[in-house]
Amino acid sequence: MNATRTLLRSALFVPAANARALAKSAGLAPDAIIFDLEDSAAPGEKAAAREALRAHLSRPRSRALHVVRINPLASADGTEDMLMARGARVDAILLPKVESAAQLVELSDALAETDAPAHLRIWAMLETPKGILNAGRIVEAPLRYRLAALVAGPNDIVAQARLRLSPGRPELLPWLAQIVLAGKAADIVVLDGVYNDFRDTAGFEAECSAGRNMGFDGKTLIHPGQIDGANRHFGPSQAEIDDAREIVAAFDDPAHAGRGVIKLGGRMVERLHLNAATALLAGLGEGQDRKEPQ
Ligand code: COA
Ligand code: MG
Repeated sequence: MNATRTLLRSALFVPAANARALAKSAGLAPDAIIFDLEDSAAPGEKAAAREALRAHLSRPRSRALHVVRINPLASADGTEDMLMARGARVDAILLPKVESAAQLVELSDALAETDAPAHLRIWAMLETPKGILNAGRIVEAPLRYRLAALVAGPNDIVAQARLRLSPGRPELLPWLAQIVLAGKAADIVVLDGVYNDFRDTAGFEAECSAGRNMGFDGKTLIHPGQIDGANRHFGPSQAEIDDAREIVAAFDDPAHAGRGVIKLGGRMVERLHLNAATALLAGLGEGQDRKEPQ
């Protein structure tokens, strides 16, 4: 597991075509902001949305990771969006409706041609039957800019596959599980899809909890009111933090030096648990020089 990975519990979509939302986003603190130029901008709004976002990104930024969802490169706007995002020094570009490794290679090559900075990351949305079927190959695409996250797109999946969802979205689980599996196999972040009914806090929190349980690292969001809930459900609980500290302390104990497996509070703890505990604490900024719990 990648121990240096930063937390990505909450990723808020901000429609670049909506001036109020764009302005509001500067004062919000999700782990990531995904400025959207794709689904939330109508065809006639896309050029103006891109210019509004270019201006917005030239101003001081919050601590959130800054990501831009561009239009597909095959569309008239895609390349313009990509050039704007690259020039605006964002952290990642999110490509929608990815269906093949070749589409990611195309983006990566286009970025390389414009000398985009090496730290720029690619994120991929999997939201079509073909994209989900090819998920395993997509995460193995040979890229010059690293693929850092997969994002599930349930609204497009439902529309394209003509699903009828019941409460708790059981019909979506086989589709989502393929995305989680591909992300885990590649050891990259996997983000759950949006919850549309943003006034329904209980339903949203239940979906966060279910998403966390099935292995998602965080959730994409559509409304500022969803940030706190996502951070709570996808962040480690206090019990998990305490447990991780206990495991690290136990392996640090000279009495256990060089041991592969130890006994802790009546259960077996192996080095794989130590690795997970170290990664969890690293995500909280607790490194090698961490203080032991009081
Ligand atoms: N990002 C930033 N600010 C947002 C926001 C978002 N995603 N959603 C709402 N806000 C702002 C509103 O602009 C409003 O700001 P104000 O107080 O300055 O007027 C405030 O939060 C309260 O918003 P509210 O009135 O509750 O909702 P709304 O009717 O303005 O917006 C939606 C509802 C669904 C239209 C809006 O949340 C939205 O567009 N979400 C993102 C959609 C999207 O990106 N889709 C593509 C990916 S799935
Ligand atoms: Mg979509």
